Amino acid sequence: MSQATNQSWGGRFSEPTDAFVARFTASVNFDQRLAPQDIQGSIAHATMLARVGVLTDEERDAIINGLNEIQGEIERGEFNWSVPLEDVHMNIEARLTEKIGITGKKLHTGRSRNDQVATDIRLFMRDEIDVIEVELKRLREGMIELADREAETIMPGFTHLQTAQPVTFGHHILAWQEMLARDHERLLDCRKRVNVMPLGAAALAGTTYPIDRHVTAELLGFDRPTENSLDAVSDRDFAIEFTSFASILLMHLSRMSEELVLWTSAQFNFIDLPDRFCTGSSIMPQKKNPDVPELVRGKTGRVYGHLMSLLTLMKSQPLAYNKDNQEDKEPLFDAVDTVRDCLKAFADMVPAIEPKKASMYEAARRGFSTATDLADYLVRKGVAFRDAHEIVGQSVAYGLKSEKDLSEMSLEELQQFSATIEQDVFEVLTLEGSVAARNHIGGTAPNQVRAAAQRAREALAALKAGA
Ligand code: ARG
Repeated sequence: MSQATNQSWGGRFSEPTDAFVARFTASVNFDQRLAPQDIQGSIAHATMLARVGVLTDEERDAIINGLNEIQGEIERGEFNWSVPLEDVHMNIEARLTEKIGITGKKLHTGRSRNDQVATDIRLFMRDEIDVIEVELKRLREGMIELADREAETIMPGFTHLQTAQPVTFGHHILAWQEMLARDHERLLDCRKRVNVMPLGAAALAGTTYPIDRHVTAELLGFDRPTENSLDAVSDRDFAIEFTSFASILLMHLSRMSEELVLWTSAQFNFIDLPDRFCTGSSIMPQKKNPDVPELVRGKTGRVYGHLMSLLTLMKSQPLAYNKDNQEDKEPLFDAVDTVRDCLKAFADMVPAIEPKKASMYEAARRGFSTATDLADYLVRKGVAFRDAHEIVGQSVAYGLKSEKDLSEMSLEELQQFSATIEQDVFEVLTLEGSVAARNHIGGTAPNQVRAAAQRAREALAALKAGA
């Protein structure tokens, strides 16, 4: 039927669709990815139609058997996708009619491609969200265990990328984990609004057949049918929500990536990434490049792009369905694939991070990172904080000149700046003393990090139980 009018709607047309227009308006090359959900939705629809007496049980069975066979043909790569048939929906329906005859033409009773496609996308997204959630949990678990293992490992903490105060490596990794915990909540929240069924809205106004939308919703595992038919066929805000989640997640992963890239450099030398996550250079034999985090950082841009595409796609669209919406699929598919792959990469990589503890420790020791501890020490001895700040500033200036860290100065050297300083100052000038002193909920002390890891483990397990 290459040049004929489309058999599904050709009745009122007097000439065939222009060949270019047929190609331009077709979506089958990308929406065939929705075939499993399209078949799942059709089986539920036919089952419901038989339950309310619109189809006979024999018709229902013929339809379901035919659809299952088509599913097999698609899985085996035997299905012949046709561009003149426009999209996944009409390709499958045409094949059904080819296989089972006139009964195949009854499947579309009380339904439109508008509610059909909205249903397919929601089923697809629900499946993908569940897969993505598994990877997200795996990554969070990996981070929690790494943090627990490295609760005592000391590194410099930074502000403005300048050495600020010592922190524990475990504390830093738990900061990442917190970002992901919020992303996880956003994902589960998005799933609630995805899991609502548009089927029954038909083209836009509902249908005159005595359908039972609760039956179809239950068959498909939806929480409930949508409330308003016009809204059901037209809005794609759930896809925008997903890409918002994805953008925020990738923003977080890009920050972690940036740190991994910095940390693996010879200048930082804080961690090693196993060779399997890196590649070499074809010209510089010494190179080992952190490609995986670099790519995740780079892929963040395309996900932001998809969010912008979808927001712009929906902007100003009048009710109800418009063909514009066919453009929702490619950005959404790519966002889903990118998120899944980036999470997998990170979930595999994070447990394999090898901290170079001596090098981290040395970096923390070099950067006057206990200067605040010295100021706090003076305050405890009765000096006003501003004066203490000034005294420590002078000590640091001296340290820069003499190339000595505060902990490397003698008591006499320190006493040049304040007579209040006594022998016990060296307890607070050590890195261990500095981190152990930050001993409150949310602080970097090793015992706090272990407790936080345990709470995170429990929160994650509770989520799992509730899912
Ligand atoms: N391929 C279309 C889409 O993706 C399916 C719905 C088409 N409906 C219509 N009335 N043209 O949005």
